[in-house]
Amino acid sequence: MRNLISTGLKRLVKQEARYARGDRQATVIAVATVKGGVGKTTTAVNIACGLARFSKKRVLLIDLDAQGHCHASLNAVMPPNASTRSALTLTDVLLGEERREVLDALVTARMERLDLTPADAGLAEAEGRISQKIGKELLLRDALKFTRTHYDYIIIDCPPNKGNLTLNALLAADKVLIPTDISPLSVRGADELLETVITVNERLHHELDVLGIVLTRVDGRNVSINEEILETIREAWGDLIFETHIGINTQIAKAQLAGLPLFDYAPESRGAKHYEALTHEIEARCR
Ligand SMILES: Nc1ncnc2c1ncn2[C@@H]1O[C@H](COP(=O)(O)OP(=O)(O)OP(=O)(O)O)[C@@H](O)[C@H]1O
Ligand SMILES: [Mg+2]
Repeated sequence: MRNLISTGLKRLVKQEARYARGDRQATVIAVATVKGGVGKTTTAVNIACGLARFSKKRVLLIDLDAQGHCHASLNAVMPPNASTRSALTLTDVLLGEERREVLDALVTARMERLDLTPADAGLAEAEGRISQKIGKELLLRDALKFTRTHYDYIIIDCPPNKGNLTLNALLAADKVLIPTDISPLSVRGADELLETVITVNERLHHELDVLGIVLTRVDGRNVSINEEILETIREAWGDLIFETHIGINTQIAKAQLAGLPLFDYAPESRGAKHYEALTHEIEARCR
């Protein structure tokens, strides 16, 4: 028996010794809501780029969605062969038998201070396989133990549901940022996510803060509809809503298509200005 225990301990120590501890302590922000297509990825990518560019922070962007849209949105600044470049995929890190870190699954963008995990289609299957693991909600948190000491911010782009991957993001995060457009179903999706945050904090003894709710794809032409919904959500969410609203802007989709950061593709666009303002607001709220 004694032999067994010491072997296990030795293995753990050996596995952890692979990783160097950095001198930073990242603020981990999950970008999540239950509704699809409301601007989660667009927000995650642009605040990651904004924090690296304007705030000069070291940033890691984790793409937890099997769709791989973070990678696609930044394709032109990814290193060549990005998908096969990292030692492991994020799925390997989360589900492998050995103790691993997200550090094993990332690549460095051709942009200052930004690293990210490449597209990983395996995450679709990982969603189900995670259920079989002990401590299934804590896999990502454990895999960030050393990784978070190398960054100032870690931004996690979540899939559009409350599945195991999103739960892992919420348990790994210090703060959650909830994007929603001004439509009743998206607002309901944001509210559902807020309920999930309360449940996670109560049942799993976590201390996840709501960093804020950001209104996305705001169409200045639909003033009457906007005002009606805005009044309702202001009443419900108050100061949780960021002052910066992200307006509809076609340059955003064009930058994604080109695979370039919006701040390079269309630095003078309304979209770039709004995301720059949101970046500053996030920094101020995190301070
Ligand atoms: N402010 C905006 N103005 C115009 N188009 C936008 C804006 N924000 C996002 N979009 C577009 O809306 C679509 C959905 O955005 P995005 O992929 O960021 O949403 P998502 O919530 O991540 O979706 P999913 O749930 O599929 O992951 C994309 O085509 C994107 O280009
Ligand atoms: Mg997305």
